[in-house]
Amino acid sequence: RQIDLIGVPVQCGAGRRGCVMGPDALRTAGLDRALTALGHDVRDLGNLAARPRDAIHRNPAIHDLSEAAGWVDTIQRAEIAPDRFPIFLGGDHLMAAGTVPAMAARTDRPLFVLWLDAHSDIHTLDSSESGNLHGTPISYVTGRADFTPHFPAPAATVDPKNVCMIGLRSVDGYEKQALAEAGIDTADMRHIDEHGIAAPLRAFLDRVRDADGALHVSFDVDFLDPAIAPAVGTTVPGGATFREAHLAMELLAESGLVTSLDLAELNPFLDDRGRTATLLVDLVSSLFGKTVLDRPTRSRL
Ligand code: ARG
Ligand code: MN
Ligand code: MN
Ligand code: MN
Repeated sequence: RQIDLIGVPVQCGAGRRGCVMGPDALRTAGLDRALTALGHDVRDLGNLAARPRDAIHRNPAIHDLSEAAGWVDTIQRAEIAPDRFPIFLGGDHLMAAGTVPAMAARTDRPLFVLWLDAHSDIHTLDSSESGNLHGTPISYVTGRADFTPHFPAPAATVDPKNVCMIGLRSVDGYEKQALAEAGIDTADMRHIDEHGIAAPLRAFLDRVRDADGALHVSFDVDFLDPAIAPAVGTTVPGGATFREAHLAMELLAESGLVTSLDLAELNPFLDDRGRTATLLVDLVSSLFGKTVLDRPTRSRL
C-alpha cells in the first residue's frame, strides 16, 4: 500500500495538554519503519499547522473554540492524495472533526466510520459539560447538530447509520439519547464481554462491504485498557485488551476495506517509557498486514 503519515498536533480539544507531542511520539516509536518493513511505501508529510478562527459560543464551559475551529478548517482544507492511505497522527480526538469530513469528501463511495473509543464523543456545543471539544466530533461529522458559524460547515457529512462504535464504557446522559436517536451502531464493553470483539466488528464490516463503502477507522487510545495504554488523558478502566485490540486490527486488515486511519488522543507526557506509542505502532502493523502465520489479505487502495 501507499501510505501518507500526516501529523495533526491538536491538543486544545482535550482537558489536559500533551497531545501536541503525539505525532512525534509515534514517529519516535518507529511507525514509518514498521510499515516500511511490512513492504509498504510510506511518505511522512510532516505536521499540519492551524491558525485560529474567531469564534465564541454561549456555553461558558466551551474552551479554546477559536483554536479548535482553526484546526477543523485546516484539516478539511489539507491536500490529501486521493489514491493513498492517510494515517492521521493525532492530536486529540477533535482531529476527527477535520479528518472524517475530508475523507467523506474524498470518496465517491459511502463513507463508513469505525469509532474505537471508550467514549461516544457525540456532544454538541450546547450539551458539553466539560467544554472539551474532543467530546463533540461525532455530532459535527454526522451533521446532527449545527456547529456553524463557529466551525466551517463540514466538507461532507457521514450518515450516522454508517458509524459503528466499539469499546464504549463512558457515555454521558445526553449522549445515550443522542446515540439512540441517531441510529448509531454500538457495541459497548458489556457487548464485547458477552460476544467477543469479532462478532460486532464482522457484522459491521459485512455492512461496509455490501454497501461498497470506504472505511475510516478512528482509533482513540482510551479504547484500550489503561493497564496497557496509560498515555491518554481520559483513561477509563475495563477497556479492550491487548488480544482484543490485535484481533480487531487483524480483522480490519483481512477485510481490505479500510481506506484511512486516525490515531487519536496519544498524550506522550503521560506515557511510561514510550510503551503506549510502541503499542500503537504494533497495532497499526497488525492493521497493515502483520500476522503470526500467513493469512490472505485483500486490498482496496
Ligand atoms: N464525554 C466526556 C466529555 O464530554 C468525555 C469525552 C472524552 N473524549 C475523548 N475524545 N477522549 O468531556
Ligand atoms: Mn474519543
Ligand atoms: Mn463523497
Ligand atoms: Mn475516548
